[in-house]
Amino acid sequence: MKISSLFILLFMCQSLLLAQETRITVNADQNAPEISKHIYGHFAEHLGRSIYDGFYVGDTSAIPNKDGVRTDIIKALKEIKIPNLRWPGGCFADTYQWKNGIGPQEERPTMVNSWWGGVTEDNSFGTHNFLNLCEELEAEPFISGNVGSGTVKDFADWVQYTNHPKGSPMAQLRKENGREEPWNVKYWGIGNEMWGCGGNMTVEYYANIYKQYATFMIAGENKDNLYRIAAGATGDDYHWTEVLMRDVPKSLIEAVGLHHYAVIDWEEKGPATGYTEEIYFKSMKEALKMDEFVTKHIEVMEKYDPKKEIDLVVDEWGGWYEVEEGTNPGFLYQQNTMRDAMIAGATLNIFNNHSERVKMANIAQTVNVLQAQILTEGEKMILTPTYHVFKMYTVHHDAKLLPVAFDSPEYTFNGESLPAISVSASKGGNGVTNISLVNIDAQKEHKVEIDLEGMDVKKMQGQILRSGKIQDHNTFDNPNKISIKDFKDFSLKNGKLSMVLPPFSVVVLSSTR
Ligand code: AHR
Repeated sequence: MKISSLFILLFMCQSLLLAQETRITVNADQNAPEISKHIYGHFAEHLGRSIYDGFYVGDTSAIPNKDGVRTDIIKALKEIKIPNLRWPGGCFADTYQWKNGIGPQEERPTMVNSWWGGVTEDNSFGTHNFLNLCEELEAEPFISGNVGSGTVKDFADWVQYTNHPKGSPMAQLRKENGREEPWNVKYWGIGNEMWGCGGNMTVEYYANIYKQYATFMIAGENKDNLYRIAAGATGDDYHWTEVLMRDVPKSLIEAVGLHHYAVIDWEEKGPATGYTEEIYFKSMKEALKMDEFVTKHIEVMEKYDPKKEIDLVVDEWGGWYEVEEGTNPGFLYQQNTMRDAMIAGATLNIFNNHSERVKMANIAQTVNVLQAQILTEGEKMILTPTYHVFKMYTVHHDAKLLPVAFDSPEYTFNGESLPAISVSASKGGNGVTNISLVNIDAQKEHKVEIDLEGMDVKKMQGQILRSGKIQDHNTFDNPNKISIKDFKDFSLKNGKLSMVLPPFSVVVLSSTR
């Protein structure tokens, strides 16, 4: 071969290699928003083994507990700095009569949990249990109130019961039930999924009754700064958001909700473990739709609220699969694999990058239900891959967003493609720069170079979540198969950070002094 041909060949090989590298720029934009820690919120519904035989084992249980709540769960949630907890539903919320969940436990009336397995709800876990738990967790309570089958008066009474200092009928009742000081609950959901289990309403009808609830719960002006969240749309129902934004006066609303689950087919949701790459690809396709949904709902909001006075709250999201064999279909108990870590990492990056309008989100759900962070079996408890992603991402809580720009390489399967890489970055109040990267590609590693020039980053440390197979998960017999590991496989030279992201991995890098 002639020398000139050799040069051409070498040049072509080099171009090919460079083409495979993804270049990411991170910008320090002074006007970028803070990433609200409330994006990292959680959700506990009276559903299956979420509360009973999940969080709550009762104070006579042999399982170590604080006022009936498992101490291992409390410890685990504190470690991921749980910022808020949504309760008591979900669909259950619009059937819940809160007054049946206060007073002596043995005297509380029972009810049928009609949405979730038709089991008897004995109301032993009620308002005091929930709000005291939030105090213990140092998390903000987010109460989802009953609009579908409750009354305006019941709702307003609940607010008075939790928040009024003294000298009102509900503050007096609270005191008689053993709690003098109010809890001052700020976050209130006004119903849930009103287009479905909340009452099968049109949004035009709901917008009217929303105003009624939002008016009487504050009784005049909103002097306690309650944060009222209108039950939002599902997926791409932009009309829902449009009507709420158009018809509800700004004095009555602080946020609009949105729900989106990564479900491949509601009739055939596929297994939580042991799935094929085809199913994995479909799940990721559904999960990544979050970006489009959030973007377009925000566009509608922008039209009516260019000053961004009303927030978007994604108060239910996550992967939803068939229940584990042998478990009650109404309990929605599913295992949690590396696929769920991919969904969590990519979705949280989407929320971070939209943090100008997305101020809160709640993964569904915390314990033993859907994309859980924690699973329990008797006295055993395991932390899922999703939990580990939440732990790695705590660095972003209340940090300033650093906008990123890049063209993602593609993850291709059966002729269809998805963006393989997702990224978000932030700078904490402590001056630390953080970058979270997810490679959802089930087969290929991807080489990335991140331009941090002018960002005063000299040294970094990293963590990684990865495993041998995408279907891998933690079990009660092997609880640490998937855990966070140190990641050192990167270089930082002249403001350029280079690394190879392994297939289906989550990496978080933070600057050090
Ligand atoms: O999270 C499970 C259920 O999903 C919730 O109860 C409901 O709001 C949604 O449809």
